[in-house]
Amino acid sequence: MNPPELENLDAKKVLVRADLNLPYHDGQFGDLTRLERFLPTLNFLRKKGAIIFILSHFGRPKGKRDAHYTLSPLAKTLSNFLNHPVRFVSDCIGPSVEMAIGEMKSGDVALLENVRFYAEEENNDFSFAEELSANMDIYINDAFSVSHRAHASVDAITKHLPSFMGPQFHAEVQALHMALENPERPCAAIVGGSKISTKIALLKNLTQKVDYLILGGGMANTFLHFQGHDIGASLIEEDSHDVYHSICEVAKVRNCQILLPNDVQVAHDLTSSNVRTIQLDQLEPVDKIFDIGLQTLTSYEAVLKICKTVLWNGPMGVFEVPPYDYGTTQLARIVARLTQESGLISVAGGGDTAAALAHAGVQDKFTYISAAGGAFLEWLEGKDLPGMQALKNAMSQNT
Ligand code: 3PG
Repeated sequence: MNPPELENLDAKKVLVRADLNLPYHDGQFGDLTRLERFLPTLNFLRKKGAIIFILSHFGRPKGKRDAHYTLSPLAKTLSNFLNHPVRFVSDCIGPSVEMAIGEMKSGDVALLENVRFYAEEENNDFSFAEELSANMDIYINDAFSVSHRAHASVDAITKHLPSFMGPQFHAEVQALHMALENPERPCAAIVGGSKISTKIALLKNLTQKVDYLILGGGMANTFLHFQGHDIGASLIEEDSHDVYHSICEVAKVRNCQILLPNDVQVAHDLTSSNVRTIQLDQLEPVDKIFDIGLQTLTSYEAVLKICKTVLWNGPMGVFEVPPYDYGTTQLARIVARLTQESGLISVAGGGDTAAALAHAGVQDKFTYISAAGGAFLEWLEGKDLPGMQALKNAMSQNT
């Protein structure tokens, strides 16, 4: 964080937008990555003497106060991680925030209640954003993973306070630029997941930008089907023919090579123990493809070895159900090894991807694994992200 305004924050009231939307099951928070990555920002701000107010959403409470979605338990978790008390404020606007402001001093940290308890948040309400900003001095957005939402705490707020990009947001943007906007070439994208229809824009955008498009998962079945392969009873999207066709056209024009599986793991259904790894021309009418095979991995590895950059989104098979985690796990380990040993730049994220890479035990071995889901996907689609745009506009006025 270089702007001079962030160098002297002594006794400044800093409203920092974080994404503490952590997985939560049976009263327990799951993956704490987002919280852990936010800690250096908090430490930085504390060191600079700021009085810190953390603003976040949690889940989708639909604009109503709902105890199920309170952020209160996270104050304790944050305190433990930070080794400093974190005060919980039971609202994100109004008298309770005002009272906290009056009682806090330099280096103190407060966690405000879920901003989505107000419908005005998702409506990007200008006056609500003004209430959020009341008595604050500076706004910092450190939540790239919410930047695809034109919400008040992400967008409208930047109209009310001097606004800055936080270090974690900056790291995400840098990684994505490195992988997609200005990659070292050759560059590949590994794209998996079950359906083409959910990733049309993403596939079209990536095909224009990368040298190799490496496909797996259910969407590869649809490509194989339209190429004329008999893929048995596997999941396909018959109505994606036009999409398939236009992606192939773009690939031809842009000289992007599309790689598809040549051997696959099949069974009659996901619970069957009769799993076979076979060539594409050996499928029986009742076979369903659930993962890629070793030969495919070898051919994908050969391409990755000549690449300098790879971007990854989506699993290669039904990775939640062993043994169909094989393809995703092995490919993740190949990318991790090439990153560690040959300087491959590897950036991954979106949806299930971080979980799949954690399952493969390589979460620390990629150049960067994004903590964002939808925002990462929308970036890959080439969309302008409202949160990013708002920050850019506001920051251009800071100078
Ligand atoms: C996420 O988990 O991707 C972000 O926190 C955004 O959450 P949302 O999809 O509910 O807006």
